[in-house]
Amino acid sequence: MKILVVGSGGREHAIAWRLSKDADRHELYCAPGNAGTLAIAENLPIGAEDVEGVVGWAETNRPDLVVVGPEAPLVKGLVDKLEEKGILAFGPVAAGARMEGSKRFAKEVMEKAGVPTGKAEVYADAVQAKAALGKFGLPVVIKADGLAAGKGVVVAETREQAEAAIDEMLVGNKFGSAGAEVLIEEFLDGEECSILAMVDGENAVLLPSSQDHKRVFDGDRGPNTGGMGAYSPAPVVTEAMLPAIKEQIILPVVRELKSRGIVYRGILYAGLMITPEGGKRALSGSLVNVVEFNARFGDPETEAVLPRIGGDFATLLKHTAQGCLKDGDLTVKDEVAATVILASGGYPGSYAKGKEITGLEGRDGAIVFHCGTKLVDGKTVTSGGRVLSVTGLGATLRTAVDNAYAKAGEIAFEGMFYRKDIAHRAFGR
Ligand code: AMP
Ligand code: GLY
Repeated sequence: MKILVVGSGGREHAIAWRLSKDADRHELYCAPGNAGTLAIAENLPIGAEDVEGVVGWAETNRPDLVVVGPEAPLVKGLVDKLEEKGILAFGPVAAGARMEGSKRFAKEVMEKAGVPTGKAEVYADAVQAKAALGKFGLPVVIKADGLAAGKGVVVAETREQAEAAIDEMLVGNKFGSAGAEVLIEEFLDGEECSILAMVDGENAVLLPSSQDHKRVFDGDRGPNTGGMGAYSPAPVVTEAMLPAIKEQIILPVVRELKSRGIVYRGILYAGLMITPEGGKRALSGSLVNVVEFNARFGDPETEAVLPRIGGDFATLLKHTAQGCLKDGDLTVKDEVAATVILASGGYPGSYAKGKEITGLEGRDGAIVFHCGTKLVDGKTVTSGGRVLSVTGLGATLRTAVDNAYAKAGEIAFEGMFYRKDIAHRAFGR
């Protein structure tokens, strides 16, 4: 197949890499890709958010499938525009991508569909929002309604922090229109995990579970990031939970969207909070609650999940996009995967770019996915905060983690740092 992958991060490298492992040799393109995708695909000088550029290329070159990685082009309607031109695309239409693009919309859908999630109220006025805080207790979660690059959520331990977050968003306009409304949300207690569901408009197939590490430093300290590592499977999700996650969370959302005229195809990523037996139960009464939905593959979860998928990946994507997904389209390998992100000093704040990277050669049991890299004068250099995503594979989580760190230890660039405790929760069990 001729396939275009839209995006430039570790997720897109992992998607292109997994496609390159299919038995059929695909003709692969990335828009714009990175120094890693260059080895397996042709990189196009088209930005991931350049909807017209991508559609224009696709109209001329007629790929069999376009796989959209990031949320921004989905929210902008890239898939709608490709479908108008008769080009098959993996990812939801803009109306479906609102499940990620508007937390308010996602809450409305969940409420209507009876999906367990934190109780929330929406406010556009700071005085009213603050007056409502008393109903929620502490900690309490303040969220901007729209896309805020992963920075629009504040878990407030004190009333002062909650009020400051409300003021920043509603009065200080910190996130512009994305923060014109805030959600005040019940704090959910427990351990998080990510379930990426392939959804074909009607049916769903759950990919293996994973957990990411959002905080920048070991021990889950420091500011939130896009993700500093991940592993799959996540033992917090037991086999027994999976049918309920599908039947009580994923499918009710898909049906509710359909009843609103939205045929959701692509990944529906459920960020779940699993409350332990004996933990503080949410008002929903459920031990499994939705923290958020995303309309795409997670990053870095994808770098841990895709290496575990067997069979023909292009068929899985194609059947999802065509609306004819079957359980048998997915096969999962027994191997366990762990991914560690190598980041630029200063990330998630400001950081330098253009640093030469060494030690990228292959190593058994490990795969190096590129997140923020560029090829300049024949040298691979850093071009982002998250630079590389090193995935280790093995029969056990221990081997997978050791393989990831063994490879990470061979790589160097100025300012490089990474978390040393990937999968600590799983080891702690
Ligand atoms: P989100 O952008 O919605 O994924 O939120 C970012 C992070 O904030 C999540 O991964 C959680 O760690 C935390 N968070 C969000 N909502 C809640 C909640 N209701 N209870 C506890 N933690 C939350
Ligand atoms: N790793 C979190 C996300 O992709 O949203």
